[in-house]
Amino acid sequence: MIEKKDNFFHLYNKKISYIFEILENGHLGQVYFGKRVSKLWEYDICYLKKYKNKAAGTVKYSKDMGNFTLADQLQEYPVYGTSDFGMSAIDVRCESEIYYLDFQYQDYKVKRYKKRNLDFPTSYGNNAETLSIELLDVERNLKLWQNFTIFDDTAAIVKSIKLENVGEKKVNVNKCLSGVLELRNMPNHELVTLDGAWLRERHINIRPIKHGLTTVSSLKGASGHQHNPFIMIKEKDTTLETGEIYAANLIYSGNFISGVEMDEWDKARIFVGINPEYFEWGLSPKETFSTPEAVFFYSENGINSLMDETSLFVNEHVIDKKWQDVTKRPIVFNSWETMYFDFDEKKLLDAAKEVKKLGMECFVIDDGWFENRNDDRNSLGNWKYDINKFPNGLKSFSKKIHDMNLKLGIWFEPEMVSPNVELLKKHPEWLLGHPYSRKAIGRGQYVLDFSNPMVIEEIYNQIKKIIIMTNLDYIKWDMNRNITEAYSAYLHDNDRSQGEVFHRYICGVYTLYKKIISDFPDILIEGCAGGGGRYDLGILFYSPQIWPSDNSDATERLDILTGTVLGYPLSSFSSHITASPNHQTNRRTMLSTRHNIGIFGALGYELDLNKLSTQEKKEIKDVISFYKKNQELMMYGRFIKLTTNDDVYNWAVVNKDKSEAVVMIFNRKIKPNSTPKSYLKLHFLDEGKKYIINDTDIVSGEFLKKYGMENPIVFNGINQQYSVVTEDLQAICVKIREYK
Ligand code: GLA
Repeated sequence: MIEKKDNFFHLYNKKISYIFEILENGHLGQVYFGKRVSKLWEYDICYLKKYKNKAAGTVKYSKDMGNFTLADQLQEYPVYGTSDFGMSAIDVRCESEIYYLDFQYQDYKVKRYKKRNLDFPTSYGNNAETLSIELLDVERNLKLWQNFTIFDDTAAIVKSIKLENVGEKKVNVNKCLSGVLELRNMPNHELVTLDGAWLRERHINIRPIKHGLTTVSSLKGASGHQHNPFIMIKEKDTTLETGEIYAANLIYSGNFISGVEMDEWDKARIFVGINPEYFEWGLSPKETFSTPEAVFFYSENGINSLMDETSLFVNEHVIDKKWQDVTKRPIVFNSWETMYFDFDEKKLLDAAKEVKKLGMECFVIDDGWFENRNDDRNSLGNWKYDINKFPNGLKSFSKKIHDMNLKLGIWFEPEMVSPNVELLKKHPEWLLGHPYSRKAIGRGQYVLDFSNPMVIEEIYNQIKKIIIMTNLDYIKWDMNRNITEAYSAYLHDNDRSQGEVFHRYICGVYTLYKKIISDFPDILIEGCAGGGGRYDLGILFYSPQIWPSDNSDATERLDILTGTVLGYPLSSFSSHITASPNHQTNRRTMLSTRHNIGIFGALGYELDLNKLSTQEKKEIKDVISFYKKNQELMMYGRFIKLTTNDDVYNWAVVNKDKSEAVVMIFNRKIKPNSTPKSYLKLHFLDEGKKYIINDTDIVSGEFLKKYGMENPIVFNGINQQYSVVTEDLQAICVKIREYK
């Protein structure tokens, strides 16, 4: 998948080509990213060379290189101070000297296969090839490896940087982004970001790309609720099925920056990496620093095919593939919105009996199970079960759950500590925070210094005891407050810069993940951070699924899901059916609506089962039985958006051979006497197949594609006996399968 000709490198698979070159000054310059080109032809190279260096740019790179200026080149890893005036990818300083870096090409290496290594999240796969280009700044004694990985199945290029100090003086790295993609002629493009807040995560935000810099970022020590590292650049008139799209993401969970800068010639510089603010990494002689990986995606045919690429990439090359076996992904029952802190063993066991009867598979005790934890202000960092709530012990409780043939899950918030716990009295220096007299506090808790390996060891040992005691199957790993005053006593004692705290902290989080997963490989860890405050590829490397939001309202989830799936697969989206009226919005929705939205992704329940009617219990049983039979389709089917209108959401999943599909239709409002009938064209079905809809109507694939499927009839005052949509905010699912 990697070809070198002349000064040009060509990375390709069946879908895409990525071409870059060694420029006259030894830097790397980008040439092309898009649809596959068959090969690097001699005459194409001549053509490219002929028109080089004919454009604008007043300042030239060097008096010895004629008209050559970096300002009008597409650069692989731009630096400031060498005739380019845009946003730089790297900034290194030595004492008070600012380095104007000049990395020159030295050599290259190609490596096959890419192993999953739990030390740090990266992409992986047997079908990977990685090209490493070695560059050297001779005067500043710095070596830089630029790595490019391509897989044979996805329209994605993965990039990362490794920097080595080969000199004799210590330097400070103030910025080292993971990857840049430059594109010419982008005057009519838009930037799409996934923005929001707690309870309103990853809503689609579209804005035109104007000259200058537009970024989204985080300084919270986590990717955050407000912005997501995933960004997308699309032509204005891109549709669900047409138009070119470029997208980028970062395999990382800490402070990030993602953005685009458009210069005076409508050239767009797209970049992602660790946020350079409050970042400073000391690099002593012989030390190296490696960035997280950036991923760049390309779609030739609009949003649906971009989602094909992002979900394929994440399912195949980021998340551990073993979780694709859906028998390992239980239907969860969670105690949080069911009983919050108000429970004891008896109440839990009563609920568990019902859980079992209804067909759920894993009983999760959320917060509130450990000593003194009767509200959210206490006891974090003291992971011992509460004897008052479990008078017979947690071990005995766990046995009872397992004897019912249910799995057991427990909530932890490993990175946090409450002010009142012994741990903090013994080790006040384990708290992350400046020794100032004032420290910010959030949800009554502080953050532990995860840059200190001893802290991780202590927390791991505490969690391990509970895992062994309960023979635990599932962990909900929460993280409810962000980092402020990022100061580590440990780094101070070890003479490291405080600018390393944020990155070392998140590396510490990954270390704890590694310890748990290596010792207990069968435990499923669901990621969570006050809902969806850490929904990123770093977490997905370790956790196959994430709690996407503390907002569990079905109609709110429509917006959250629609944004999330642009960059992340359905299989990662945890979806719980909760009470009506909903606890976050007070909104009432029918159980069927909650189900018809909730079955997309990893299904679970989080409501008081005692309050359900017999009819509702029957509905839950039926849905669970459908879901179990179709779990692979609902988690790993191809997800397709069918409309872009906010009032009417239509989407579908279809399996690989197009023999099974589920279409979801949602109407925000019933409009009396509006369109008497409407049709939905199911272009994703197979023209040659015959289908049966809802086990009733037989129709050809060709007809469903060209004419369309009849939409469910909406109540309009006089058609009462036929109407299927009878309320506002109602979601309907239509089940389609091949008819033989
Ligand atoms: C966070 C999580 C919730 C729940 C609570 C428990 O808010 O996002 O799902 O686990 O903590 O305190």
